Amino acid sequence: MKNIAILGFGTVGSGVADVLAASCNKICREIHDTVNVKYILDLRDFPESKYADRVVHDFDIILNDPEIELVCETMGGTKVAFDYTLRALNAGKSVVTSNKEVVAAYGKLLCDVAREKGVRYLYEASVGGGIPIIRTMKTSLGANEIYGIDGILNGTTNYILTHMKEDGASFEEALAQAQKNGYAELNPKADVEGDDACRKICILAALAFGAMIPQSLVSCEGISSVTLDTIERAEKFGGSIKLIASARRMKGEKVDISVAPCVVAHDNPLSGVSDVFNAIMLHAQHLGDVMMYGKGAGKLPTASAVLSDIIEAIKAGKGSEQETWNIADPGMLSDNDKVSDTYCVYVPTSFAASEEKVLALFGKAEIKFSEGSGFGFIVENISRSKIRKNLHSIDVKDFSVFRYVK
Ligand code: HSE
Repeated sequence: MKNIAILGFGTVGSGVADVLAASCNKICREIHDTVNVKYILDLRDFPESKYADRVVHDFDIILNDPEIELVCETMGGTKVAFDYTLRALNAGKSVVTSNKEVVAAYGKLLCDVAREKGVRYLYEASVGGGIPIIRTMKTSLGANEIYGIDGILNGTTNYILTHMKEDGASFEEALAQAQKNGYAELNPKADVEGDDACRKICILAALAFGAMIPQSLVSCEGISSVTLDTIERAEKFGGSIKLIASARRMKGEKVDISVAPCVVAHDNPLSGVSDVFNAIMLHAQHLGDVMMYGKGAGKLPTASAVLSDIIEAIKAGKGSEQETWNIADPGMLSDNDKVSDTYCVYVPTSFAASEEKVLALFGKAEIKFSEGSGFGFIVENISRSKIRKNLHSIDVKDFSVFRYVK
């Protein structure tokens, strides 16, 4: 029997216990053994739960119990979660986690400690909820360089954008429902402002490019400025508004990494990803484009990913090799504002901004639609800074620019 401890009995932690109970036969077939939740660490008691007798409030009980080989960290937050993870690894216990904040901030250190101690630090549930993207990148795509990643990596914002578009829900209503469904972070600002997606793209970029890019260096914009008008205009540009996290290798081995609302063309499969679903499109050296799709948040999908790590750690046993990465040199990043790409630009009509003037300025721009109050055009091979400079030169200040993901 393998004894484990769950740290944090919230949405994901209780989901881990539920999936373990529901799938004990299947898991037993995988590992040829049984898994027992010996402890649950939480500040609260759960007198109604069937796990009430396993609840402890002191981490040292878990740390000092030699029967505990694996700790499942589903607490959230960074400070305490990092501290407990480090202490567990140093004590020779493997740790599996859904905590993207800890992986993005301290993953290198924790992977190094796990490697040194001959245990595992696994984090499948930190990106894409239930989608097995991390194991796929580490194993199935091992022979491919990854040239680029475009992903919808936050279930809450995708849920909000979908329900604003399809049911005319207000931003606040859609967010409240996402919280009720257990998708949102404790502080949903992390979802709405793009920080959560940012952490996740940093983790995927570390796997793809071998270096963890500090979150503070990533150009990150959330969906708080997206309105119903923005969503309707995206349709007129021929796509849907999605919060896209992307990391791409540019010329000279530089990496462009960003999180921003983008117009995703309708013939790109990412445009049809709705509700709490996430999807990750990888551009791989030999395989070409491949997309993984599934539930990106929620109790059971995320717990399913945590269980996949528990199974891997138990099967691997002690002494298996832990992968790790470097910390990125800031010089490897390209300036997102100067990256040449295709953009959708909306300009309110004014004396300064007529379609003719804009066409004269941008040369090959294609006007996609005109409405009473403004017009939209798509322009290729240009940077955001150049678009801004062009429009400022004719005294147009009030415009919006979205990357067009073809
Ligand atoms: N708040 C996150 C999301 C949870 O909405 O995607 C899963 O990481």
